[in-house]
Amino acid sequence: MLGLLHLFLVSLTILVRRSVGTTEHQIILPLDFKSYIESQKLPLILNRDSPTKDELENATFVVLCRNEDLYDLLETIQSIQDRFNSKYSYDWVFLNDVPFTSHFIYSVANFITNSTLKFGQIDPHEWDIPSWINQTYMHQLWDENYQDTPYGTSESYRLMCRYFSGFLHNHPLIQPYQYYWRIEPGVKYYCDIDYDVFRHMRENDLLYGFTISMFEYRDTIPSLWSHFKQFMQNTNREYGDLIRFVMNDDDENSYNLCHFWSNSEIANLDIFRGRVYKEYFEYLDQTGGFFYERWGDAPVHSLFVSSFLEPEDVWWFGDMGYYHGPYLQCPQDSKIFELGKCSCNPTKDFSFGYYSCTEHFLKIRNHFK
Ligand SMILES: *[C@@H]1O[C@H](CO)[C@@H](O)[C@H](O)[C@H]1NC(C)=O
Ligand SMILES: *[C@@H]1O[C@H](CO)[C@@H](O)[C@H](O)[C@H]1NC(C)=O
Ligand SMILES: *[C@@H]1O[C@H](CO)[C@@H](O)[C@H](O)[C@H]1NC(C)=O
Repeated sequence: MLGLLHLFLVSLTILVRRSVGTTEHQIILPLDFKSYIESQKLPLILNRDSPTKDELENATFVVLCRNEDLYDLLETIQSIQDRFNSKYSYDWVFLNDVPFTSHFIYSVANFITNSTLKFGQIDPHEWDIPSWINQTYMHQLWDENYQDTPYGTSESYRLMCRYFSGFLHNHPLIQPYQYYWRIEPGVKYYCDIDYDVFRHMRENDLLYGFTISMFEYRDTIPSLWSHFKQFMQNTNREYGDLIRFVMNDDDENSYNLCHFWSNSEIANLDIFRGRVYKEYFEYLDQTGGFFYERWGDAPVHSLFVSSFLEPEDVWWFGDMGYYHGPYLQCPQDSKIFELGKCSCNPTKDFSFGYYSCTEHFLKIRNHFK
C-alpha cells in the first residue's frame, strides 16, 4: 500500500477541472495538489483517466456525508475499492450539506487514485424544513412520540431522509449518470465482487438492487401507508405483482412493514426521475410526514418500487457480504463464500433471520420468474 501510494504521489499526473468555467489545469502531485484544492470552491471535479474507461457503464458511487465522517468513510472506501472498484474505477460523487474541507477532499483524493471524483454541496433549499410545516407542532410531536425512537428527535436525520427521497437523484453532479450505488460512511463490504455490478444491472434489465431488507419501526411511519394508498387511489394507479412484498393479504390490505434497506441501494435512476415518482414524492411531502413523523427514505422508495416495478426488475445481491451497523449480510452458500474470499461470520447473517424480509421477497420473485 505504501509503495503504491508513493508511486502514485510521485508519478501520477491528473487533470483537474472545475465543473463551472472552462479552464483546464494540468497539475502535478503532490506539491501543487493540496494548495490547488485549498484554492478551489465546490463543485470540484477531479477528472482522472480510468484504465478501464471504455468498458464502464454509465454509473457512479454516491456518498452523502459530513466532514467529520472522513475516517469512517476512508475505511469504507478501502473495502469497496479493494473488493470491487480497483478492477473498474467507477466514479465517486460526494455530497455534503456544508462545503467539504480541503482536508477531506485531499484525503479522499489521495486514497482513490484511478477514479474521477466529484465533490459537491446540496442546494440549501432542498435541505430545509418546508414552509408548510408547523415547527411548534412538530417539536411537540417529537417530545410526545419520538423520545425513544432511533433518530426520533433529530432534525438532520429527517432532512437527510427527505433529501434521499426527493432530491438526490436530480443533483447536478448525479444527473450525468444512469445508475448509482449508494455508500454510507462506516459500512463494509466483506466479499470480493468479481463482476461488474452495473453491467449486471443493465444486461439483465434490472432497475433496482438491494442487499438487506427488513421490517420498519411502525412508530416512524404511522400514516405513510394510508397516504400511499390514497395517492394510488387519487391517481387511479394499479398495483403490480411486487406489491405483495409490502401488502398483507388481509381485508384492509395493510402494510407488513417490509422495505429494502436503501443505504446500499443500486438502482437505475430513471425510477426516481420520472413524472410519477415526482408526483408521489410531492404528495407525501405536503402531508408533512417526513417531519411530523420520521419517514425513512427506505420505506418511501420501497413502496414506490413495489407498486411500479415488476418482481423481475428487482435484484437481491445475496453474494455481497455487507455490514451496516448493527446488521450484517454474510453469504450462506459456502461456494459463494469461498469464491468471494468473504471475511464475515456467516452465523451472524441477518438476511435469513426472523427480522428480514428477504425470503419473502425471494418467494415472490421466484413465483413470477
Ligand atoms: C491506476 O492506473 C494505472 C494506469 O492504468 C495503473 O498502472 C495502476 O496500477 C492503477 N492503480 C490502481 C490502484 O488500480
Ligand atoms: C402550530 O402548532 C401549535 C401547537 O400545536 C398551535 O398552537 C398553532 O396554532 C399552530 N400554528 C398554526 C399557524 O397553525
Ligand atoms: C448517462 O445517463 C444520463 C442519464 O440518463 C444521460 O443523460 C447521459 O447522456 C448518459 N451518458 C452517456 C455517456 O451515455
